[in-house]
Amino acid sequence: MSEAILRTEGLTKRFGGLVAVSDVSLDLHVGEVHVVIGPNGAGKSTLTNLLSGDLPATSGRVMLDGRDIAGLSSDQISRMGVGRSYQKTNIFLPFTVFENARLAAQSRTPYALRVFSGAEQYEAINALASSALESAGLAHRAQRVAATLSHGEQRQLEIAMCLATQPRVLLLDEPLAGMGPHESQRMVELIGKLRSDHAIMLIEHDMDAVFALANRLTVMVNGEVLETGSPEQVRSSPAVQAAYLGGEELLHE
Ligand SMILES: Nc1ncnc2c1ncn2[C@@H]1O[C@H](COP(=O)(O)OP(=O)(O)OP(=O)(O)O)[C@@H](O)[C@H]1O
Ligand SMILES: [Mg+2]
Repeated sequence: MSEAILRTEGLTKRFGGLVAVSDVSLDLHVGEVHVVIGPNGAGKSTLTNLLSGDLPATSGRVMLDGRDIAGLSSDQISRMGVGRSYQKTNIFLPFTVFENARLAAQSRTPYALRVFSGAEQYEAINALASSALESAGLAHRAQRVAATLSHGEQRQLEIAMCLATQPRVLLLDEPLAGMGPHESQRMVELIGKLRSDHAIMLIEHDMDAVFALANRLTVMVNGEVLETGSPEQVRSSPAVQAAYLGGEELLHE
């Protein structure tokens, strides 16, 4: 298997007396969707925030390309190739789809574009924005005001904004939340396409999507990793079966 782009070792986050993420070790590889599931409050979004630099860890390490990224800002980590989407959408509703993508391209890549002159930078940013919208299946909506998009298209726009920063790692926190079946299907297809040249961590509750996409599956409960492995390994794990017994639909596709 390829070297992990992103790896955590013993990652822990405390909020006062609460251990939201407890001793989590996992790794992300290009070509893989690593799905993280777990009940509400399990620590999934907090884990994402630790990987993206939105929150500092209490202890443990996050390694990006073998380098400890502790203490770097979320902007620095973004420029190193880690893109994320948020559980709640984070787009600029009064702006057009293209403007949103352009802002993302511009805000996250000033250093990468330093070699260009002003006019060339302008073109390079536009090209990044267009290509991101194309990849996310939103090119035909480029001139629409973001507020007028359907909920599913707004989530696609958020992925496009992420792609405009040219990430190698994608951290997707419940991108299917609030979507209907048709929109969900489109998003699953999009994530499946992005897998070939990204390392993806996907947090998801929709079990159809989880099993459609997961190359690896990690189950978190109370901040801890209960089980990690192939979807088959996790599904047949006695610990997982016990935790979910009579509960969510984890064991049924
Ligand atoms: N900034 C914060 N300050 C204090 N406690 C927090 C903070 N962020 C999260 N928590 C707590 O940490 C725990 C884990 O929350 P987190 O949002 O990571 O869970 P989650 O697995 O993403 O849940 P959900 O499925 O509902 O999105 C919860 O008990 C939550 O209340
Ligand atoms: Mg969450």
